Amino acid sequence: MYLGLDIGRQYVKMVTAEKTKTGYKVIDAGCRLVPEQNATYDPEKIDHSHWVMAVKELFRQQGFNPRKAKGLITGINGSSASIKQITTMEMPSDELESAMTFEARKHIPMDGTDAVIDYQILGSNKKEVDKIDVGLVACTKGVLNNHIDLLKECGLKPGIVDVNPIAMSNAFSFAKDIPDDGLVVMLDIGAVSSTLVVYGKGEQFFTRDLPIGGHHFVKELSEKKEIGYIEAQDLLFKDGLSASKSDSTSDNMNEVGIAERTVYDNLIEDMRRSLRFYAKQTGQSFFLKIFLTGGAAGTPGLSEVVKDKLNIECAVFDPFDSMDGADDVSISNPSQYTTALGLGIRGGMDLG
Ligand SMILES: Nc1ncnc2c1ncn2[C@@H]1O[C@H](COP(=O)(O)OP(=O)(O)OP(=O)(O)O)[C@@H](O)[C@H]1O
Ligand SMILES: [Mg+2]
Repeated sequence: MYLGLDIGRQYVKMVTAEKTKTGYKVIDAGCRLVPEQNATYDPEKIDHSHWVMAVKELFRQQGFNPRKAKGLITGINGSSASIKQITTMEMPSDELESAMTFEARKHIPMDGTDAVIDYQILGSNKKEVDKIDVGLVACTKGVLNNHIDLLKECGLKPGIVDVNPIAMSNAFSFAKDIPDDGLVVMLDIGAVSSTLVVYGKGEQFFTRDLPIGGHHFVKELSEKKEIGYIEAQDLLFKDGLSASKSDSTSDNMNEVGIAERTVYDNLIEDMRRSLRFYAKQTGQSFFLKIFLTGGAAGTPGLSEVVKDKLNIECAVFDPFDSMDGADDVSISNPSQYTTALGLGIRGGMDLG
């Protein structure tokens, strides 16, 4: 049994899964709030001690002993890592190693510690004969050690450390067939930020962190309506985007009659910019569909607005859809478990 553990900034999520002849069977899934319950959420106030407590309480809540797992798989946030597809000359492996280390240092926020890299040769480049495509994942020793220390503080034996954007794409590839042509877009809307992933068969893998998440949805509603954080949160989960519409339409306009830019407009604008960047870099802009994941993906009305504004099909992704065993597990917000499930599956891919 593999344990995928997604340590988010507001919720810790776990998925346990077993490998079967045809794929995976989900055994259990659960989540636990990291900050204090029924209080205004302040991401700045979250530290290791909160995560340690939440992880331990989650295992207790699910009646799960982590020692029973064959492998633990956790993930580093896309914002602390670099995930790049690089085209380079063919070269001996020791040279490639140092070329990739050099490349990684250009892309990760360095914190005075060395870069840790992992790479995989994806194949020869489609356009240039003597070149190869390499998938490169990197972070700093500081980031990795901090993550491993946290796991140890939780009483866990660190296992595979993946990166969240790749876990997202693994969860998707497992649940759905990747079309031969075109690109799949995923947006994981967490609490503090959102992770955009673009990928396709034989296409460039791309990820970017967008600085807006469900916490900003709640905060904006609470300020607009002049209500408390928890009240705003309940209202948002129930009514979604329509909750922030004022009773009289003129309230939503300023003196010159221009509609105020909402947090949703900003998020969609960031998506538009990222997709435009991708298209410019790769010459490929056949975006088939956007799948929303993460805790805030199901905010009522959100996928419709994304579809209308970007003119690309959009839906909330359920990673358990058609998965063995899912009917026996009680899951209230399935999209929230996408990363945890993708991490769990990684165990079966790497450990057999
Ligand atoms: N039923 C719901 N409807 C709408 N939003 C929800 C619902 N349940 C949770 N959320 C929102 O989802 C967000 C948390 O999602 P998630 O668990 O994916 O975040 P996280 O992984 O802890 O954060 P991050 O990825 O930023 O570290 C919160 O902002 C919360 O308000
Ligand atoms: Mg998250």
